[in-house]
Amino acid sequence: MTPAELAEMEALCFPETPVTWSVSDYGQHLENPHSITIAGDMGFIIGRIIEDEAEVITLGVLPEHRHAGHGTDLLATFQIKAKQKGASVAFLEVSAENEAALALYKSAGFDRVGRRRKYYANAKGIAVDAFILKKTL
Ligand SMILES: CC(C)(COP(=O)(O)OP(=O)(O)OC[C@H]1O[C@@H](n2cnc3c(N)ncnc32)[C@H](O)[C@@H]1OP(=O)(O)O)[C@@H](O)C(=O)NCCC(=O)NCCS
Repeated sequence: MTPAELAEMEALCFPETPVTWSVSDYGQHLENPHSITIAGDMGFIIGRIIEDEAEVITLGVLPEHRHAGHGTDLLATFQIKAKQKGASVAFLEVSAENEAALALYKSAGFDRVGRRRKYYANAKGIAVDAFILKKTL
């Protein structure tokens, strides 16, 4: 998938609260050997490896393909790739208001290990806490 296609996918998955990576950001991400990108017709997941830690930067499934297990599959593939690249633990941040993502990560075995106060802005521009989640791979 090209950087432009990834940016378009992100815009479709996050119409109200985009992660706002530019096409150039995606280009740099794809060229970085420590990055992980798994993308298909249904959705995408991107992350990076720092030493033995993996970080999920974002995960999105197109609205018309949700509730069919694609998010779970993308996250599972991410964990396999992260382990192959030497990660033994994975972290991510998720909005405390994002029920769908919280359910997905819980079902995938991620545990809450911290909270960042007023870390995100929601669709109404109101500050929302983020939870830090962790999973041993
Ligand atoms: C979060 C998201 C990736 C989930 O993708 P998905 O393909 O629909 O997820 P799955 O079908 O694999 O579902 C995984 C689990 O989450 C639960 N779930 C999914 N959507 C849910 C919702 N709207 N409300 C509550 N639970 C939900 C499922 O029931 C399932 O749980 P189970 O395994 O116990 O049955 C998708 O909703 C999305 O792209 N949202 C917008 C972008 C976003 O918020 N990304 C997360 C950023 S951290």
